[in-house]
Amino acid sequence: MSHWRVCRCVREGPLGARHSSSVVQHTESSVVRPFSEIPGLWKNSVANLYNFWKQDGFKNLHRIMVQNFNTFGPIYREKIGYYDSVNIIKPEDAAVLFKAEGHYPRRLNVEPWTAYRDYRNRKYGVLLKSGEDWRSNRVILNKEVIAPKVQENFIPLLDEVGEDFVARVHKKISRSGQNKWTTELSHELFKYALESVGAVLYGERLGLLLDYIDPDAQHFIDCITRMFKTTSPMLYVPPGLLRRLGHHVWKDHVEAWDGIFNQADRCIQNIYRSLRQDAAPPQTYPGVLARLLLLDKLSIEDIKASVTELMAGGVDTTSITLLWTLYELARQPNLQEELRAEVVQARAENQGNMQETLKHIPLVKGAIKETLRLHPVAVSLQRYITEDIIIQKYHIPAGTLVQLGLFAMGRDPKVFPRPEQYQPSRWLRTENQYFRSLGFGFGPRQCLGRRIAETEMQIFLIHMLENFKVEKQRHLEAQSTFELILVPDKPIVFTLRPLHG
Ligand code: HEM
Repeated sequence: MSHWRVCRCVREGPLGARHSSSVVQHTESSVVRPFSEIPGLWKNSVANLYNFWKQDGFKNLHRIMVQNFNTFGPIYREKIGYYDSVNIIKPEDAAVLFKAEGHYPRRLNVEPWTAYRDYRNRKYGVLLKSGEDWRSNRVILNKEVIAPKVQENFIPLLDEVGEDFVARVHKKISRSGQNKWTTELSHELFKYALESVGAVLYGERLGLLLDYIDPDAQHFIDCITRMFKTTSPMLYVPPGLLRRLGHHVWKDHVEAWDGIFNQADRCIQNIYRSLRQDAAPPQTYPGVLARLLLLDKLSIEDIKASVTELMAGGVDTTSITLLWTLYELARQPNLQEELRAEVVQARAENQGNMQETLKHIPLVKGAIKETLRLHPVAVSLQRYITEDIIIQKYHIPAGTLVQLGLFAMGRDPKVFPRPEQYQPSRWLRTENQYFRSLGFGFGPRQCLGRRIAETEMQIFLIHMLENFKVEKQRHLEAQSTFELILVPDKPIVFTLRPLHG
């Protein structure tokens, strides 16, 4: 097979506008083909939507993408309903894509989410904003949420949540009277994730790991799950239409977001009130929300909108990644022991100092990357390109929606040798990692919660590996299903056994 050189081709037009050249262009090895020749299913969008629906595409989007790459090769065009996109799979092509994302990178708009905000007249937060509005908010949020310096503040808060989770599991084990706890862990992990993100955002504990849980908090978790579940059926049908028809999916979606916003509003009100009552500035780290309020650089409405989105984005994403990590470690007891040995050594060498321990657990960090390779939260990363590019010898004009198939890339043997094997050590080698670890996205629009999520997941694994052996039912094999994010298609029952005593 010949190798096509990938390059960008942009011409400045009059007035500095960028536009594509209509003439056929040449790379080193071949002629550049026009956009209209990209292989794929894009000529009959209605028939495609019908077939997609017949294949249960809403649940199988990730597998259909793999199938399409197998059929058409490393680039294909697709039109389903009103979505028209070019799909790519190679890391080198991802590099070209992200170079063309412009100053204000734009992802695929999640229409049901913006439709809800428009319907309820609520402001967009950083997740949904665009243009200069997004950038000016994001720059301020970056300093308080993702900058390496602020991460240090999160560690003690997250460590405390990790310790409480371990204490809760020990309690469950002792109550069972069988020296083990067998359970479908996902609800516990949701609580851990919300407790963690709540601690970082509000500097306060929500109390979700106690025996009695505030019913509002449980309702909030249920609403997030429902919000994701009801989003995917509305991706290909205009939410406005479903709203006019009074369809139950739209109604459920609205109820779910209402629940999310109400709970976030309550938390935000509490912090706001206590900040106004305290005359002196806080002595210890007060949490992201208080810092943003004290900083006074964003309007209260903007702060509320983004903090709500951080809360909503911070639960299922990390809890499901942890669930998959435990699943993979339960499948490979020897690997679990290797990770445990690394953790025990790092803890001993750093006398329990969590900040230092986190610098010495490369295999644990590799495990999280490996989980996101095989079970990415996002099926694809998307950008509307702001300039013409050439990928795989095809010309793609500015304005096109280009998607990098993250799930498909993670399982492509040309990108990852023996992709079916879960091997955290593959991330330790000096092998080419160029544009391969993209679970949190890339560039200025990458995941804002990345540092919170990484620290939270690493601390969780440290505590769990130090304290428990994780097993699962021997024959249980889980696959991913698409509910806007990828989630396991069946409950996974784990058995946790104490390592000591
Ligand atoms: C395993 C955990 C997580 C994964 C894999 C993940 C993944 C992602 C991905 C792929 C994106 C899109 C990035 C892009 O387009 O380049 C994203 C965006 C985002 N994530 Fe996460 N995420 C995780 C956890 C979190 C957490 C814990 C929070 C909040 C505390 C969060 C908040 C956000 C926000 C606000 C955005 C939108 C940023 C923007 O548009 O500027 N995420 N995430």
